[in-house]
Amino acid sequence: MQNSKKYLVTSALPYINNIPHLGNFIPLLRSDIFVRILKLQGRDVLYICGTDESGTRTEIEAQKQNLSEEEYCKIMHKKFKEIIDWFDIDVDFFGRTSSQSNHQLTKEIFLDLYKQGFIFEKQLQILYCPNCRRYLPDSYVSGICPFCKSKDAKGDQCDKCSKFIHPTELINPKCKICGSKPIIKKDKHLFLDLPKFSKKLEKYINENKNFKAIERNLPLAWIKKGLEPRCISRNLKWGIKIPLSGYENKVFYVWFDAPIGYIAATKDFCDKNDLDYKDYWQNKNTDIIHFMGKDNVPFHTIIWPAELMANKKYNLPSRIYSNEFLNFEGGKFSKSLNKGIFCNDKIIKKYYPDIWRFYLSSILPESKDSDFEWNDLKEKINNSLIANYGNFEYRIMSVANKFGEIKPISFDKLTNNEKKIIDKIQIIINDYFKCAWNGNLKDALNSALSISDIGNKYFQKNKAWELINSDDKKNKLEHILFFSFVILLNCTILLHPFIPKKTKQILSIFIDDFKINKSMKERKILMINNNINAKKTKPLFKKIE
Ligand code: 2FM
Ligand code: ZN
Repeated sequence: MQNSKKYLVTSALPYINNIPHLGNFIPLLRSDIFVRILKLQGRDVLYICGTDESGTRTEIEAQKQNLSEEEYCKIMHKKFKEIIDWFDIDVDFFGRTSSQSNHQLTKEIFLDLYKQGFIFEKQLQILYCPNCRRYLPDSYVSGICPFCKSKDAKGDQCDKCSKFIHPTELINPKCKICGSKPIIKKDKHLFLDLPKFSKKLEKYINENKNFKAIERNLPLAWIKKGLEPRCISRNLKWGIKIPLSGYENKVFYVWFDAPIGYIAATKDFCDKNDLDYKDYWQNKNTDIIHFMGKDNVPFHTIIWPAELMANKKYNLPSRIYSNEFLNFEGGKFSKSLNKGIFCNDKIIKKYYPDIWRFYLSSILPESKDSDFEWNDLKEKINNSLIANYGNFEYRIMSVANKFGEIKPISFDKLTNNEKKIIDKIQIIINDYFKCAWNGNLKDALNSALSISDIGNKYFQKNKAWELINSDDKKNKLEHILFFSFVILLNCTILLHPFIPKKTKQILSIFIDDFKINKSMKERKILMINNNINAKKTKPLFKKIE
């Protein structure tokens, strides 16, 4: 087992039946940026995601489309993969929770927990639709709220009075699939005995200083209130079968097997690449880092660590970065109300991936909810990206291209003002990495952009374009261009995780692909030691009208 420090980064596995809208896309974007920032520092990181395929919705969607669950999931998985590729989400492996390895690992972990007495059986009353001949999960029943009497309350909660409801408490319940009246059936189910983990979970969270804000407060508050056993079996055909006699017609609750999917996907990737997945999941020198939306926090800070603690074989999460919600033009994204932008909408392909990445990065809902607004997109792209960074790059390139080859200058030949600029940029670089490690990627982006601010001011003050026609100012011009390139290089490297395609075009003047990944290993400002040949360039981005 190799013992150098490693990082395993995951983005929450999206449900297979919902094409993500831009709000669902946030954890993928944040984790991708984070991984790219780790790579700038030369860190050894494996980046895993995949589709979460179990669950009722998969069965119902497949039925609607007249497909088997296997066929449906295969088609949808391909669609998801195309989406993440298009957005340049550079995962090492995009797995599936329906994989052989996930079936096997989930059963293994379950049996171990069962044998150790962490899982018990209990009789439940469940709604059953005689017409559809299926048990109805909470989201597939509606009726009158027993508390406020509002119509159309869901099987788990009333939207009007917010009270939690048990589906059997609904007045006049209806099957949401066919509208018939369900009956109550008694059925035995399996429960994960979460209260047994209260103390351990509390200690784990309290001692892990990387758990901040909601990742810390939410589980601690739940533990204080008292954890309740969690039902981990469901009456479905599609999913991972429960390997116990008497449970032949049941599968695991989607949240029992989904996070195990992280390990299974790592294993699938490692098996294909002659690596050992234990180097990631059992090596104490690996940090497990999960990205997700805030609604996923209880699962990743309570149920998932409890499963891992009970099993004792795999590493617990070291860091959790959750995000708040992204809204759309002041309201919620909604497929049924046709509100918002979904990742397969036609409008997406109208702009470059980097345009979406840049705008979403500039409004990341990291400390509070944020809002996608078309006007704001136009303003951020035209002003922050194009008028600031794009403009700086274009101005240097235009002059440098007329000048020809530029020779490097040694540090001691720089002016005092330039040395001061170097100090400033160094402070910004430190800030950038600090923000990233704190999960404040929006702030990291702003740090990077503040370097092009400095660059624009430097270029403006020295009026390089006025020197291009005077022979006696050639040295001065070369000096100014060289130093402008130093600023451009550093700014571009830091922007690379956010807008990888466009920045790569610019970085190709300075460094080859491979070296981008280690370019900021020392977190020190990069100087240029080679001659620079500026090519003729076009403006990087077109303004958005
Ligand atoms: O909220 C969701 O989209 C879930 N499918 C996330 C699962 S994350 C992990 F545990 F797999
Ligand atoms: Zn029905």
